[in-house]
Amino acid sequence: MARKRGPSSGQGTRRGLSIQVTDPTGALVQHSAAFLDRPTASVPSTILTRGRHHNILSAPSGAPAGESLHFAVYSILAEMCFGKDVVSELGEARLRGMHKFQRDILLALPSFWVFVKYPRIGKLLYPARWRQLLALRRQQEESFMPLVAEVRKRKACRDTTFTSYVESLLKLRVHEDGDRKVTDGELVSLISEFLGAGTESMASALEWTMANLVKHPELQRKLRLEVDAVTTRRDSIIEAADLSRMPYLKAVVLESLRRHPPVPFVLRHVEGQDADAAEALGPERFMPGGDGEGADLTCTRELRMMPFGAGRRICPGLAPAMLYLEYFVANLVREFEWWEADGEEVDLAEFHGSFFTVMDRPLRARLVPRDEAPAARPAT
Ligand code: HEM
Repeated sequence: MARKRGPSSGQGTRRGLSIQVTDPTGALVQHSAAFLDRPTASVPSTILTRGRHHNILSAPSGAPAGESLHFAVYSILAEMCFGKDVVSELGEARLRGMHKFQRDILLALPSFWVFVKYPRIGKLLYPARWRQLLALRRQQEESFMPLVAEVRKRKACRDTTFTSYVESLLKLRVHEDGDRKVTDGELVSLISEFLGAGTESMASALEWTMANLVKHPELQRKLRLEVDAVTTRRDSIIEAADLSRMPYLKAVVLESLRRHPPVPFVLRHVEGQDADAAEALGPERFMPGGDGEGADLTCTRELRMMPFGAGRRICPGLAPAMLYLEYFVANLVREFEWWEADGEEVDLAEFHGSFFTVMDRPLRARLVPRDEAPAARPAT
């Protein structure tokens, strides 16, 4: 049975990360709007910035910041899907609109199971739901198809090696069906699946990882030491190339995926551990000498943990998901100290009322810019 707790809980409700920013002058994001809900003309492709913005000291924590972290993940996925230039031209307001209705769809999905259960008479039994389903689908078509047209138009004159998901779909031929192209309807479904599956799982994994770091400041300190050692210049962000030199960062992300696999229907299995040891949070298990050293997420060599599934249906988003998770976490920890917000103990209980394993109570954290952290550190 789904557990409900707190004012923002609800059946199937995806509650985002809530962040209490003590001083957004140190605001982290390259696309600061992604966190602080300010309009910006920039493309929200990466989340961390050194941008100095207006001081909104002690901004209250709340859903807008949480939604924005989710939106940052969505933005990256949208760029992978349509290409950076297309998303950039679309503009943030329209992208936010797409993000919102994707979440509406996710919330509404459980109520549409009746059409799977009663394929013949479902729409007669539940006409209002049927109309809602058709309206959501129409909305998807109206949002995605102009972007697909844009990708088609630009395809000819592009000189980059990057191939967006839509570009690759446009090249596809369905051999089993007369070697035809992918239809518009199929394109809409595939795009919806890409954005939906990718965003929810990645945002959930990120939220769990940050929650673990808030709950375990000693792990956070250790991670920050590693991150600082790799990039000594405080004004530079961690780049993708730096990530391979951060084994502890990877261990932290893996440990979070092991403890809270975002997609719950593929069970994990960690060999050689008793139940207590498997429950205790310990990224060290993935470091040299640990029993999880060299864990193979692709499950081709061994089947020890499988947050991305296994076999022929293994998650195709594994590689970008790991890359972006590490990238986000490294930069978020580099820029801020993450503390529990006043009176808000972090609760690591899981909520199972949706397709994804999300936090039962959304994470509320206090982000203190590194420059201010020593002065603001609470007495322990
Ligand atoms: C932390 C992030 C992610 C996790 C934990 C995750 C997990 C999973 C799992 C467990 C499966 C089922 C695999 C199986 O049945 O063996 C799956 C399938 C899938 N995932 Fe992910 N995923 C993540 C990110 C992504 C991303 C970023 C994308 C797309 C951009 C994506 C797209 C898909 C798709 C399309 C499938 C269906 C594959 C198939 O049935 O052949 N996922 N994912």
